Amino acid sequence: MRVDIVSLFPSFFNSIFDQSILRRACESGKLEVKLYDLRGYCTDKHHQADDYRFGGGAGMLLKPEPCHRALEAVLTGVRPTPLVIFPTPQGIPFTQDIADELARELHLVFLCGHYKGIDQRVIDRWVDREYSLGDYVLTGGELASSVIIDAVVRMLPGVLGDLDSALGDSFRKGRLDSPHWTRPETCAGVGIPGILKGGHHKNIERWRRLTAEFLTAARRPDISRK
Ligand code: 6GU
Repeated sequence: MRVDIVSLFPSFFNSIFDQSILRRACESGKLEVKLYDLRGYCTDKHHQADDYRFGGGAGMLLKPEPCHRALEAVLTGVRPTPLVIFPTPQGIPFTQDIADELARELHLVFLCGHYKGIDQRVIDRWVDREYSLGDYVLTGGELASSVIIDAVVRMLPGVLGDLDSALGDSFRKGRLDSPHWTRPETCAGVGIPGILKGGHHKNIERWRRLTAEFLTAARRPDISRK
């Protein structure tokens, strides 16, 4: 998968793509990332990237011209046409199903907003999808883009060593994950549920499903089936 990122703070992503799983995805050629510095597309004397909003109010907006130029540079002549994603609190909720769907794309472009957002004309002209991570506000699109990229890239074939690990994820079955334990069997005087030691896989599976359903009903009534 190819991922292009248009951002005023491209160095933000160095730490993201330097970490274990995303780094290995890059090194093995399953992921190719290119960063575009929005500042480089500001052609005015002061390289100003933001400006006040028409209609007034606190908070600046990214100016349209640098965004237009950067996206023109990213997208002109590129076939098949990449999907352009703008993470924003005004987007539709980003979910595991959407991560799965995006993982089937060949080429994604992320536009990182800042301050109060981006001039609407940029969104209208270029953006295919607007996603929100939840009902709170982050300072910039870099963090939100990183979250989306992480969720998508781990679904690319061969990126996680263990396919079952992704298929057993929380949310895939419409519920949270059950709790897990590892060795030692007793730690600081606390043991583990005996059923997990028995090796009776049918019972273990049932126990995990029941604890997961209980947890989901208690914490996430919005996704709980019954
Ligand atoms: Cl996608 N972006 C920003 N800046 N804040 C958010 C968000 C996205 N989702 C929730 N809050």
